[in-house]
Amino acid sequence: MSLFVWGQKYAIGVEEMDQQHQQLVDLINEVYDHRDHHSREHLCKIILSLIQYIEKHFRSEEDLMKNFHYPDLKEHKRCHDKLKKKVADLKNEVLDENKDVGESGTYLGIFLCRWLCDHILNEDQKYAKFINK
Ligand SMILES: [Fe+2]
Repeated sequence: MSLFVWGQKYAIGVEEMDQQHQQLVDLINEVYDHRDHHSREHLCKIILSLIQYIEKHFRSEEDLMKNFHYPDLKEHKRCHDKLKKKVADLKNEVLDENKDVGESGTYLGIFLCRWLCDHILNEDQKYAKFINK
């Protein structure tokens, strides 16, 4: 079974963002599934595509919030920036030869899964409500 199982409760009612969130879920599951089976370098390649997708997704969300003059954009962007920094740190741990790649990969997967659940259900729901009102 996948680490993050998508369900209707995660849909925020903004189609493009719901699609992007599902793509993020797929990438997080991919990282988690590969944490033990491949080399450090291979896992890092998958993490890099996840990081690129996170960048793209955050940009889309921030543009959308800007277009709708969402009042809490600044605060929301701060959450995004914090996450980008954290993921960069966790990627470096996966690359660290002194650390167990399986453990670092597991931690990264679980951390991102929890972060995304919480972020969608709280922060993203807030802007979606504002946009859809
Ligand atoms: Fe967000």
